[in-house]
Amino acid sequence: MAGAEEILRFFNHSFKISNKEGRNNLVTEADHASEKAILEVIKTNFPGHSILTEETGNLPQESDYKWIVDPIDGTINFAHGIPINCVSIGLEFRGEMIMGMVYNPHLKELFFAEKGKGATLNDKPIKVSRETDVMKSCLVTGFPYIYLNIPNGPLDIFERLIREGVPVRRLGSAAIDLCWVACGRFDGFYEHKLEPWDSAAGSLIVKEAGGKVTDFTGGEFSVYQHRILATNGIIHDQMLNIINK
Ligand code: IPD
Ligand code: CA
Ligand code: CA
Repeated sequence: MAGAEEILRFFNHSFKISNKEGRNNLVTEADHASEKAILEVIKTNFPGHSILTEETGNLPQESDYKWIVDPIDGTINFAHGIPINCVSIGLEFRGEMIMGMVYNPHLKELFFAEKGKGATLNDKPIKVSRETDVMKSCLVTGFPYIYLNIPNGPLDIFERLIREGVPVRRLGSAAIDLCWVACGRFDGFYEHKLEPWDSAAGSLIVKEAGGKVTDFTGGEFSVYQHRILATNGIIHDQMLNIINK
């Protein structure tokens, strides 16, 4: 998959790092190289389509199709040699996600979904977990680079769950978090401040694996809003209750 070669080429080698907004919001030479490789493939094969990427921004066209690209999701992990990072590419048609792919080149795991056709991991169908009790669940979350000091903020919800003894992991890649919900490794994922490129592919993959994805009110999820709750569906209302306590 385009971009993945660049991730592997730079991983654990030296590369230039620069800072974006926030103290630890990094962008590396590898992010730019991965994005360039992906853009080349999309522009060559679909010259009329719109594109939205994390590092370049909006490349609008008169088109029903929009590609939404995160060239490396999990950049901090990447920069520290932690093999939990990926390329995430989603395709939107008239405002609706119709295809998503997330590839972790370190684990050689390709998650893929097409709207209405289910989700796969390395070509094998995947399903969300069947856990019925949030108290017995294994969850995952992420924290924004600039802390959100708001009611029911990231630490409030984390604290509620941890005080109940619920395992909550923090992998550092929202796209992988979502895919690991889709294949049943996690029962649920929530995060307060994602961008479209973080959630575009993964949110469709969860839905196509039989899971549920909403905002924090239980309303319909859009990749253009920040808050996301993605679960196996069964524990969704229990999670909403904890989030909105
Ligand atoms: C980040 C990761 C992380 C999430 C952050 C994202 P990046 O993306 O997905 O898990 O907690 O909100 O910004 O910066 O590595 O592409
Ligand atoms: Ca990201
Ligand atoms: Ca990124």
